[in-house]
Amino acid sequence: MSSVTTTHAPKGLEGIVATNSKVCYIDGDRGVLAYCGIDIHELADHSNFEETCHLLWFGKLPTHAELEDLQARLAAERKLDPGILTLLRNAPAHALPMDVLRTAVSALSFYDPDLKNSDHQANLAKAIRLTSQIAMIVAAYDRIRKGQPVVEPDRALSHAANFLLMLSGKRPSATAERALDIALILHADHELNASTFAARVTAATLADMHSAITSAIGALKGPLHGGANEAVFRILETVAANDADPVEYVKGMLAQKKKIPGFGHRVYHTEDPRATHLRAMSRDLGQASGQPKWYEMSQKIEEFVKAEKKLNANVDFYSASTYHTLGIDEDLFTPVFAVSRISGWAAHVIEQLDDNRLIRPRAEYLGPPYPNKYAAIDQR
Ligand SMILES: CC(C)(COP(=O)(O)OP(=O)(O)OC[C@H]1O[C@@H](n2cnc3c(N)ncnc32)[C@H](O)[C@@H]1OP(=O)(O)O)[C@@H](O)C(=O)NCCC(=O)NCCS
Repeated sequence: MSSVTTTHAPKGLEGIVATNSKVCYIDGDRGVLAYCGIDIHELADHSNFEETCHLLWFGKLPTHAELEDLQARLAAERKLDPGILTLLRNAPAHALPMDVLRTAVSALSFYDPDLKNSDHQANLAKAIRLTSQIAMIVAAYDRIRKGQPVVEPDRALSHAANFLLMLSGKRPSATAERALDIALILHADHELNASTFAARVTAATLADMHSAITSAIGALKGPLHGGANEAVFRILETVAANDADPVEYVKGMLAQKKKIPGFGHRVYHTEDPRATHLRAMSRDLGQASGQPKWYEMSQKIEEFVKAEKKLNANVDFYSASTYHTLGIDEDLFTPVFAVSRISGWAAHVIEQLDDNRLIRPRAEYLGPPYPNKYAAIDQR
Protein backbone atom coordinates (compact mmCIF):
# COMPACT_ATOMS: atom_id res chain seq x y z
CA MET A 1 0.00 0.00 0.00
CA SER A 2 1.47 3.32 -1.06
CA SER A 3 0.94 6.72 0.54
CA VAL A 4 1.90 8.43 -2.73
CA THR A 5 -1.07 9.90 -4.62
CA THR A 6 -0.93 9.62 -8.37
CA THR A 7 -4.05 11.36 -9.67
CA HIS A 8 -5.30 14.93 -9.63
CA ALA A 9 -8.89 15.30 -8.49
CA PRO A 10 -11.23 17.09 -10.89
CA LYS A 11 -13.23 19.75 -9.07
CA GLY A 12 -16.33 18.20 -7.53
CA LEU A 13 -14.92 14.71 -8.36
CA GLU A 14 -16.61 14.98 -11.75
CA GLY A 15 -16.40 11.71 -13.65
CA ILE A 16 -14.59 9.88 -10.84
CA VAL A 17 -15.80 6.34 -10.19
CA ALA A 18 -15.71 6.04 -6.40
CA THR A 19 -17.32 2.66 -5.74
CA ASN A 20 -18.73 -0.50 -7.29
CA SER A 21 -22.49 -0.95 -7.00
CA LYS A 22 -25.26 -3.20 -8.28
CA VAL A 23 -28.06 -0.84 -7.33
CA CYS A 24 -28.39 1.82 -10.01
CA TYR A 25 -27.31 2.29 -13.63
CA ILE A 26 -27.12 5.70 -15.32
CA ASP A 27 -26.12 6.54 -18.89
CA GLY A 28 -25.93 10.32 -18.86
CA ASP A 29 -25.48 10.68 -22.61
CA ARG A 30 -28.53 8.62 -23.51
CA GLY A 31 -30.67 9.74 -20.56
CA VAL A 32 -30.99 6.24 -19.11
CA LEU A 33 -31.73 5.54 -15.45
CA ALA A 34 -32.34 1.98 -14.28
CA TYR A 35 -32.68 0.31 -10.87
CA CYS A 36 -31.02 -3.12 -10.89
CA GLY A 37 -31.11 -2.93 -14.69
CA ILE A 38 -34.84 -2.14 -14.99
CA ASP A 39 -35.52 1.10 -16.85
CA ILE A 40 -37.12 3.85 -14.80
CA HIS A 41 -39.77 4.36 -17.53
CA GLU A 42 -40.95 0.76 -17.11
CA LEU A 43 -41.05 1.14 -13.34
CA ALA A 44 -42.92 4.46 -13.55
CA ASP A 45 -45.47 2.97 -15.96
CA HIS A 46 -46.07 -0.37 -14.27
CA SER A 47 -44.59 -0.59 -10.78
CA ASN A 48 -45.30 0.92 -7.37
CA PHE A 49 -43.09 2.24 -4.58
CA GLU A 50 -43.25 -0.93 -2.48
CA GLU A 51 -42.16 -3.10 -5.43
CA THR A 52 -39.39 -0.62 -6.15
CA CYS A 53 -38.18 -0.88 -2.54
CA HIS A 54 -38.05 -4.66 -2.92
CA LEU A 55 -36.05 -4.29 -6.12
CA LEU A 56 -33.55 -1.97 -4.45
CA TRP A 57 -33.18 -3.92 -1.21
CA PHE A 58 -33.30 -7.48 -2.53
CA GLY A 59 -31.97 -6.94 -6.07
CA LYS A 60 -35.08 -8.33 -7.78
CA LEU A 61 -38.77 -7.63 -8.29
CA PRO A 62 -40.94 -9.44 -5.74
CA THR A 63 -43.29 -12.36 -6.31
CA HIS A 64 -46.87 -11.91 -5.04
CA ALA A 65 -45.95 -13.49 -1.72
CA GLU A 66 -42.76 -11.42 -1.34
CA LEU A 67 -44.63 -8.20 -2.11
CA GLU A 68 -47.35 -9.01 0.42
CA ASP A 69 -44.70 -9.78 2.99
CA LEU A 70 -42.89 -6.47 2.40
CA GLN A 71 -46.16 -4.51 2.43
CA ALA A 72 -47.07 -6.15 5.75
CA ARG A 73 -43.66 -5.35 7.23
CA LEU A 74 -43.85 -1.72 6.09
CA ALA A 75 -47.37 -1.41 7.49
CA ALA A 76 -46.33 -2.98 10.81
CA GLU A 77 -43.56 -0.37 11.14
CA ARG A 78 -45.97 2.56 10.75
CA LYS A 79 -45.54 3.64 14.33
CA LEU A 80 -43.50 6.26 16.13
CA ASP A 81 -42.30 6.11 19.70
CA PRO A 82 -44.01 8.80 21.84
CA GLY A 83 -40.50 10.21 22.41
CA ILE A 84 -40.31 11.11 18.70
CA LEU A 85 -43.71 12.78 18.77
CA THR A 86 -42.58 14.78 21.82
CA LEU A 87 -39.44 15.82 19.92
CA LEU A 88 -41.61 16.99 16.99
CA ARG A 89 -43.90 18.90 19.37
CA ASN A 90 -40.91 20.56 21.05
CA ALA A 91 -39.40 21.86 17.80
CA PRO A 92 -39.55 25.68 17.73
CA ALA A 93 -42.31 27.13 15.58
CA HIS A 94 -39.83 28.40 12.97
CA ALA A 95 -38.07 25.00 12.57
CA LEU A 96 -37.88 23.90 8.95
CA PRO A 97 -39.38 20.46 8.23
CA MET A 98 -36.10 19.31 6.66
CA ASP A 99 -34.15 20.22 9.82
CA VAL A 100 -36.74 18.57 12.02
CA LEU A 101 -36.58 15.43 9.86
CA ARG A 102 -32.78 15.30 10.11
CA THR A 103 -32.92 15.60 13.91
CA ALA A 104 -35.83 13.17 14.31
CA VAL A 105 -34.16 10.49 12.15
CA SER A 106 -31.07 10.74 14.30
CA ALA A 107 -33.28 10.37 17.40
CA LEU A 108 -35.05 7.30 15.92
CA SER A 109 -31.92 5.31 16.72
CA PHE A 110 -32.66 5.67 20.47
CA TYR A 111 -35.77 3.55 20.04
CA ASP A 112 -34.57 1.12 17.35
CA PRO A 113 -34.78 -2.51 18.49
CA ASP A 114 -31.79 -3.37 16.27
CA LEU A 115 -29.64 -0.44 17.38
CA LYS A 116 -26.65 -2.54 18.33
CA ASN A 117 -26.91 -4.88 15.36
CA SER A 118 -25.65 -3.94 11.89
CA ASP A 119 -25.77 -7.34 10.18
CA HIS A 120 -27.53 -7.78 6.85
CA GLN A 121 -30.92 -8.80 8.31
CA ALA A 122 -30.87 -6.04 10.92
CA ASN A 123 -30.03 -3.48 8.24
CA LEU A 124 -32.93 -4.70 6.10
CA ALA A 125 -35.22 -4.36 9.11
CA LYS A 126 -33.90 -0.82 9.62
CA ALA A 127 -34.46 0.00 5.94
CA ILE A 128 -38.11 -1.05 6.24
CA ARG A 129 -38.57 0.71 9.58
CA LEU A 130 -36.94 3.96 8.45
CA THR A 131 -38.98 4.02 5.23
CA SER A 132 -42.23 3.85 7.21
CA GLN A 133 -41.05 6.19 9.96
CA ILE A 134 -39.65 8.93 7.70
CA ALA A 135 -42.99 9.27 5.89
CA MET A 136 -44.76 9.44 9.25
CA ILE A 137 -42.38 12.05 10.66
CA VAL A 138 -42.78 14.36 7.67
CA ALA A 139 -46.57 14.13 7.81
CA ALA A 140 -46.82 14.30 11.62
CA TYR A 141 -44.58 17.38 11.90
CA ASP A 142 -46.60 19.21 9.28
CA ARG A 143 -49.79 18.55 11.27
CA ILE A 144 -48.17 19.51 14.58
CA ARG A 145 -46.78 22.81 13.31
CA LYS A 146 -50.21 23.70 11.95
CA GLY A 147 -51.84 22.94 15.30
CA GLN A 148 -53.71 19.95 13.84
CA PRO A 149 -53.97 16.49 15.42
CA VAL A 150 -51.58 13.82 14.16
CA VAL A 151 -53.43 11.38 11.90
CA GLU A 152 -53.29 7.67 12.69
CA PRO A 153 -51.81 5.64 9.82
CA ASP A 154 -54.05 3.29 7.87
CA ARG A 155 -52.08 0.07 7.57
CA ALA A 156 -54.28 -1.17 4.72
CA LEU A 157 -53.21 1.68 2.45
CA SER A 158 -50.21 1.89 0.13
CA HIS A 159 -47.17 3.86 1.27
CA ALA A 160 -48.12 6.79 -1.00
CA ALA A 161 -51.81 6.84 0.02
CA ASN A 162 -50.97 6.56 3.71
CA PHE A 163 -48.55 9.48 3.47
CA LEU A 164 -51.20 11.69 1.84
CA LEU A 165 -53.78 10.54 4.40
CA MET A 166 -51.49 11.40 7.31
CA LEU A 167 -50.72 14.77 5.74
CA SER A 168 -54.25 15.95 4.96
CA GLY A 169 -56.43 13.79 7.20
CA LYS A 170 -58.36 12.71 4.11
CA ARG A 171 -58.10 9.56 2.04
CA PRO A 172 -56.51 10.65 -1.26
CA SER A 173 -58.09 10.17 -4.68
CA ALA A 174 -56.76 7.35 -6.82
CA THR A 175 -55.18 10.00 -9.10
CA ALA A 176 -53.32 11.69 -6.25
CA GLU A 177 -52.16 8.36 -4.84
CA ARG A 178 -50.83 7.21 -8.21
CA ALA A 179 -49.14 10.57 -8.88
CA LEU A 180 -47.26 10.46 -5.57
CA ASP A 181 -46.49 6.78 -6.04
CA ILE A 182 -44.83 7.55 -9.40
CA ALA A 183 -42.92 10.47 -7.88
CA LEU A 184 -41.67 8.14 -5.12
CA ILE A 185 -40.52 5.59 -7.72
CA LEU A 186 -38.71 8.29 -9.72
CA HIS A 187 -36.85 9.69 -6.69
CA ALA A 188 -35.96 6.34 -5.11
CA ASP A 189 -32.35 6.07 -6.19
CA HIS A 190 -29.76 7.85 -8.29
CA GLU A 191 -26.43 6.09 -8.01
CA LEU A 192 -23.66 8.02 -6.24
CA ASN A 193 -25.39 11.38 -5.85
CA ALA A 194 -24.16 13.62 -3.02
CA SER A 195 -26.49 12.32 -0.29
CA THR A 196 -25.96 8.66 -1.16
CA PHE A 197 -22.21 9.19 -1.20
CA ALA A 198 -22.50 10.82 2.24
CA ALA A 199 -24.50 7.82 3.47
CA ARG A 200 -21.94 5.34 2.14
CA VAL A 201 -18.99 7.26 3.59
CA THR A 202 -20.63 7.32 7.02
CA ALA A 203 -21.66 3.65 6.84
CA ALA A 204 -18.15 2.65 5.79
CA THR A 205 -16.76 3.81 9.15
CA LEU A 206 -19.03 1.10 10.65
CA ALA A 207 -21.26 3.74 12.16
CA ASP A 208 -24.88 2.55 12.18
CA MET A 209 -27.63 2.96 9.56
CA HIS A 210 -29.22 5.87 11.43
CA SER A 211 -25.94 7.83 11.35
CA ALA A 212 -25.61 7.14 7.62
CA ILE A 213 -29.16 8.26 6.88
CA THR A 214 -28.77 11.36 9.06
CA SER A 215 -25.66 12.28 7.02
CA ALA A 216 -27.63 11.73 3.83
CA ILE A 217 -30.50 13.96 4.93
CA GLY A 218 -28.01 16.72 5.75
CA ALA A 219 -26.54 16.46 2.24
CA LEU A 220 -29.93 16.31 0.55
CA LYS A 221 -30.99 19.61 2.10
CA GLY A 222 -28.71 21.82 0.02
CA PRO A 223 -30.14 23.77 -2.93
CA LEU A 224 -27.62 22.20 -5.32
CA HIS A 225 -29.16 18.80 -4.48
CA GLY A 226 -32.64 18.01 -3.08
CA GLY A 227 -33.30 21.55 -1.89
CA ALA A 228 -33.67 22.65 -5.51
CA ASN A 229 -37.35 21.64 -5.71
CA GLU A 230 -38.28 24.13 -2.99
CA ALA A 231 -36.20 26.84 -4.69
CA VAL A 232 -38.06 26.18 -7.97
CA PHE A 233 -41.41 26.75 -6.32
CA ARG A 234 -40.25 29.95 -4.65
CA ILE A 235 -39.59 31.32 -8.16
CA LEU A 236 -43.01 30.24 -9.43
CA GLU A 237 -44.69 31.77 -6.38
CA THR A 238 -42.82 35.06 -6.71
CA VAL A 239 -43.69 35.30 -10.39
CA ALA A 240 -47.36 34.56 -9.66
CA ALA A 241 -47.55 36.95 -6.69
CA ASN A 242 -46.14 39.83 -8.76
CA ASP A 243 -48.04 38.94 -11.92
CA ALA A 244 -44.61 38.92 -13.56
CA ASP A 245 -43.47 37.37 -16.82
CA PRO A 246 -41.72 34.08 -15.88
CA VAL A 247 -39.20 34.40 -18.71
CA GLU A 248 -38.28 37.97 -17.77
CA TYR A 249 -37.88 36.89 -14.15
CA VAL A 250 -35.51 34.08 -15.04
CA LYS A 251 -33.63 36.35 -17.48
CA GLY A 252 -33.07 38.70 -14.54
CA MET A 253 -31.66 35.85 -12.47
CA LEU A 254 -29.23 34.91 -15.22
CA ALA A 255 -28.20 38.56 -15.61
CA GLN A 256 -27.26 38.48 -11.92
CA LYS A 257 -25.24 35.29 -12.62
CA LYS A 258 -27.63 33.22 -10.51
CA LYS A 259 -28.23 29.58 -11.27
CA ILE A 260 -31.77 28.60 -12.11
CA PRO A 261 -32.89 25.85 -9.71
CA GLY A 262 -34.26 22.75 -11.42
CA PHE A 263 -31.87 22.97 -14.40
CA GLY A 264 -28.58 21.32 -15.22
CA HIS A 265 -27.14 18.05 -14.04
CA ARG A 266 -23.69 16.68 -13.34
CA VAL A 267 -24.40 13.36 -15.10
CA TYR A 268 -27.16 13.90 -17.69
CA HIS A 269 -26.21 15.65 -20.91
CA THR A 270 -29.68 15.15 -22.28
CA GLU A 271 -33.21 14.99 -20.84
CA ASP A 272 -33.29 13.68 -17.27
CA PRO A 273 -35.61 10.65 -17.73
CA ARG A 274 -37.36 11.49 -14.45
CA ALA A 275 -38.28 14.95 -15.74
CA THR A 276 -40.17 13.35 -18.65
CA HIS A 277 -42.69 11.80 -16.23
CA LEU A 278 -42.84 14.72 -13.83
CA ARG A 279 -43.53 17.16 -16.68
CA ALA A 280 -46.52 15.07 -17.80
CA MET A 281 -47.73 14.69 -14.21
CA SER A 282 -47.44 18.42 -13.57
CA ARG A 283 -49.48 19.10 -16.72
CA ASP A 284 -52.17 16.48 -16.01
CA LEU A 285 -52.56 17.27 -12.32
CA GLY A 286 -52.62 21.01 -13.07
CA GLN A 287 -55.44 20.53 -15.57
CA ALA A 288 -57.39 18.10 -13.37
CA SER A 289 -57.20 20.36 -10.32
CA GLY A 290 -58.04 23.56 -12.18
CA GLN A 291 -54.59 25.06 -11.44
CA PRO A 292 -52.84 24.89 -14.82
CA LYS A 293 -50.83 28.09 -14.19
CA TRP A 294 -47.94 26.40 -12.37
CA TYR A 295 -47.33 24.03 -15.25
CA GLU A 296 -47.75 26.79 -17.83
CA MET A 297 -45.24 29.04 -16.08
CA SER A 298 -42.83 26.13 -15.69
CA GLN A 299 -43.11 25.28 -19.36
CA LYS A 300 -42.25 28.86 -20.40
CA ILE A 301 -39.22 28.86 -18.11
CA GLU A 302 -38.10 25.47 -19.42
CA GLU A 303 -38.35 26.58 -23.07
CA PHE A 304 -36.35 29.72 -22.36
CA VAL A 305 -33.59 28.11 -20.27
CA LYS A 306 -33.17 25.35 -22.83
CA ALA A 307 -32.88 27.83 -25.71
CA GLU A 308 -30.74 30.36 -23.86
CA LYS A 309 -28.44 28.15 -21.77
CA LYS A 310 -28.83 24.71 -23.41
CA LEU A 311 -29.73 23.34 -19.98
CA ASN A 312 -32.34 20.63 -19.47
CA ALA A 313 -34.86 20.51 -16.65
CA ASN A 314 -33.87 18.02 -13.96
CA VAL A 315 -35.95 15.94 -11.53
CA ASP A 316 -36.57 18.93 -9.28
CA PHE A 317 -38.06 21.30 -11.83
CA TYR A 318 -41.47 19.74 -12.47
CA SER A 319 -41.65 18.00 -9.10
CA ALA A 320 -42.21 21.47 -7.61
CA SER A 321 -45.46 22.14 -9.47
CA THR A 322 -46.48 18.48 -9.14
CA TYR A 323 -46.17 18.49 -5.35
CA HIS A 324 -47.89 21.86 -5.04
CA THR A 325 -50.85 20.59 -7.03
CA LEU A 326 -51.00 17.56 -4.73
CA GLY A 327 -51.53 20.00 -1.84
CA ILE A 328 -48.05 19.62 -0.37
CA ASP A 329 -46.48 22.74 1.21
CA GLU A 330 -43.34 24.12 -0.44
CA ASP A 331 -41.06 23.49 2.55
CA LEU A 332 -42.09 19.83 2.55
CA PHE A 333 -40.86 19.22 -1.01
CA THR A 334 -37.33 18.25 0.03
CA PRO A 335 -38.57 16.11 2.95
CA VAL A 336 -40.84 14.34 0.43
CA PHE A 337 -37.72 13.66 -1.66
CA ALA A 338 -36.31 11.97 1.48
CA VAL A 339 -39.57 9.99 1.94
CA SER A 340 -38.63 8.30 -1.34
CA ARG A 341 -34.82 8.40 -1.32
CA ILE A 342 -34.59 6.55 2.01
CA SER A 343 -35.15 3.43 -0.11
CA GLY A 344 -32.04 4.07 -2.23
CA TRP A 345 -29.92 5.30 0.68
CA ALA A 346 -30.73 2.15 2.63
CA ALA A 347 -29.95 -0.06 -0.38
CA HIS A 348 -26.54 1.57 -0.71
CA VAL A 349 -25.79 1.35 3.02
CA ILE A 350 -26.69 -2.36 3.00
CA GLU A 351 -24.50 -2.91 -0.05
CA GLN A 352 -21.63 -0.98 1.52
CA LEU A 353 -21.78 -2.92 4.77
CA ASP A 354 -22.11 -6.28 3.00
CA ASP A 355 -18.60 -5.79 1.61
CA ASN A 356 -17.12 -2.93 3.55
CA ARG A 357 -13.88 -1.05 3.42
CA LEU A 358 -13.34 2.39 4.95
CA ILE A 359 -13.80 5.14 2.35
CA ARG A 360 -10.84 7.44 2.82
CA PRO A 361 -9.60 9.26 -0.28
CA ARG A 362 -6.70 11.72 -0.40
CA ALA A 363 -6.50 15.47 -0.97
CA GLU A 364 -3.94 17.04 -3.27
CA TYR A 365 -2.01 19.40 -0.98
CA LEU A 366 -1.79 22.97 -2.32
CA GLY A 367 -0.77 24.81 0.86
CA PRO A 368 2.59 26.37 1.88
CA PRO A 369 5.48 24.02 1.06
CA TYR A 370 6.57 21.54 3.68
CA PRO A 371 8.47 22.09 5.90
CA ASN A 372 7.03 25.45 6.87
CA LYS A 373 8.76 26.62 10.05
CA TYR A 374 6.79 27.14 13.28
CA ALA A 375 7.36 30.72 14.53
CA ALA A 376 6.91 31.55 18.18
CA ILE A 377 3.91 33.85 18.81
CA ASP A 378 5.94 37.00 19.64
CA GLN A 379 8.04 36.58 16.49
CA ARG A 380 5.12 36.55 14.01
C1 LIG B 1 -26.96 20.32 -10.71
C2 LIG B 1 -25.72 21.19 -10.67
C3 LIG B 1 -25.31 21.42 -9.21
C4 LIG B 1 -24.60 20.47 -11.41
O1 LIG B 1 -23.47 21.20 -11.18
P1 LIG B 1 -22.07 21.00 -11.95
O2 LIG B 1 -22.02 19.70 -12.64
O3 LIG B 1 -21.02 21.29 -10.95
O4 LIG B 1 -22.13 22.09 -13.07
P2 LIG B 1 -21.58 23.59 -12.94
O5 LIG B 1 -22.23 24.25 -11.77
O6 LIG B 1 -20.09 23.56 -12.98
O7 LIG B 1 -22.17 24.20 -14.26
C5 LIG B 1 -21.54 24.15 -15.53
C6 LIG B 1 -21.92 25.43 -16.28
O8 LIG B 1 -23.34 25.46 -16.49
C7 LIG B 1 -23.91 26.55 -15.79
N1 LIG B 1 -25.11 26.07 -15.09
C8 LIG B 1 -25.28 24.84 -14.58
N2 LIG B 1 -26.50 24.76 -14.02
C9 LIG B 1 -27.06 25.95 -14.18
C10 LIG B 1 -28.31 26.48 -13.83
N3 LIG B 1 -29.19 25.73 -13.16
N4 LIG B 1 -28.59 27.73 -14.15
C11 LIG B 1 -27.71 28.49 -14.82
N5 LIG B 1 -26.51 28.05 -15.21
C12 LIG B 1 -26.18 26.80 -14.89
C13 LIG B 1 -22.87 26.98 -14.76
O9 LIG B 1 -23.02 28.32 -14.41
C14 LIG B 1 -21.60 26.69 -15.50
O10 LIG B 1 -21.39 27.71 -16.44
P3 LIG B 1 -19.90 28.28 -16.71
O11 LIG B 1 -19.12 27.10 -17.22
O12 LIG B 1 -20.12 29.35 -17.70
O13 LIG B 1 -19.41 28.74 -15.37
C15 LIG B 1 -25.97 22.55 -11.36
O14 LIG B 1 -26.45 22.32 -12.66
C16 LIG B 1 -26.94 23.40 -10.57
O15 LIG B 1 -26.51 24.13 -9.67
N6 LIG B 1 -28.27 23.35 -10.90
C17 LIG B 1 -29.25 24.08 -10.14
C18 LIG B 1 -29.57 23.35 -8.86
C19 LIG B 1 -30.35 22.10 -9.10
O16 LIG B 1 -31.32 22.06 -9.84
N7 LIG B 1 -29.93 21.02 -8.42
C20 LIG B 1 -30.63 19.73 -8.48
C21 LIG B 1 -29.87 18.76 -9.29
S1 LIG B 1 -30.81 17.28 -9.57
